[in-house]
Amino acid sequence: MNTPSLQIVNPTGHLRVVVTKPLPGTHWLDVLIAAGCRVEIATGDDILSGDEIIALIGDHCHAAIGQLTESWNAELFAALKHAGGRAYSNYAVGYNNVDVTAASACGIPVGNTPGVLTETTAEIAVALTFSAARRIVEADHFMRDGQFKGWLPGLFLGNLLHGKTVGIIGAGRIGEAYARMMVEGHKMNLVYFDLRPNIPLEEFVQAYGAFLTTRGEPAVTCQRAETLACLLEDSDVVSLHTLLDAGTRHLINAERLALMKPDAILINTSRGPVVDEAALVAHCRSHPEFRAGLDVFENEPAMAPGLADLKNVVLVPHIASATKWTREGMASLAACNVAATLRGYPVAAVGDVRPFLAGTPPQAAPSILNAHELGLA
Ligand code: DGY
Repeated sequence: MNTPSLQIVNPTGHLRVVVTKPLPGTHWLDVLIAAGCRVEIATGDDILSGDEIIALIGDHCHAAIGQLTESWNAELFAALKHAGGRAYSNYAVGYNNVDVTAASACGIPVGNTPGVLTETTAEIAVALTFSAARRIVEADHFMRDGQFKGWLPGLFLGNLLHGKTVGIIGAGRIGEAYARMMVEGHKMNLVYFDLRPNIPLEEFVQAYGAFLTTRGEPAVTCQRAETLACLLEDSDVVSLHTLLDAGTRHLINAERLALMKPDAILINTSRGPVVDEAALVAHCRSHPEFRAGLDVFENEPAMAPGLADLKNVVLVPHIASATKWTREGMASLAACNVAATLRGYPVAAVGDVRPFLAGTPPQAAPSILNAHELGLA
């Protein structure tokens, strides 16, 4: 077991907060310092093991900020509680790495960071969609390899998306933002699959369609798919925006890939295990016109054998939220979750997190997942 090097900020603070990776920006540190925290940050890029995190927590620790790459399970929450811990925040909006039930059993509030990743993640889903559709990465390698000998009628033919159908699985914040970008920007018709109807999204597409007809253009349409199979069969692009749980693990498997159009595009910016990666490799091999754009992987940082060899797949290393504004915002929200909880402030009732991102934040925790269970809501 390695002992991570630590950066200590505000050594005289009376509340010890451990942070398992350096976070961007400085506002988050200002928030914790103002709450009287001594902040101990594990430096270095290695992913910490459970034992290393338990050693970091030690026997005196009031709160922790952890990463989506760490498994915050019952053992870690027991260690945090034993050390006097009263708060945890994930530095992520997704929390499939956190056993929230175990945290609740220890009486520890669990924060996450919604509201600052929405457009950022949707934008990378759009970027992956067009990179896949227009074969940008393949063409880039072709140029760098000196293979371009002049314009040719058949060089790197890709897919036109304008006016085609985009399907989103999961019509929450990020799915909706992506859908609006594809509908509004590229006049795509929308099909969505979600357990709940998204009425504002439906109304948006309807109003936009009506606007287009006043301009003499074909209206765009929106349909809530009755079944996942209908969406997969009808869509030219399928983008995944669901959370990861037992019900969505391998939601996209060999059987469902076979339902998709042979030249469809699959985009995943949600969580890797939503796609059966070995099945995707097999499908992309047997369907060279099929394309995929992946930001997340089933067993990060590893990739399924063969995935990296496929020309019809675009791969990026889980960077959907990687803009300065978003990553600094996530740090502010995680710090506000911890600082507000340690100070005994209530949980914020509103969804707009912008007041938490600069200056003195509101006297509330922006997002606590188990607020209801712990009677904090
Ligand atoms: C999250 O916050 O869940 C994202 O995956 C980070 O990019």
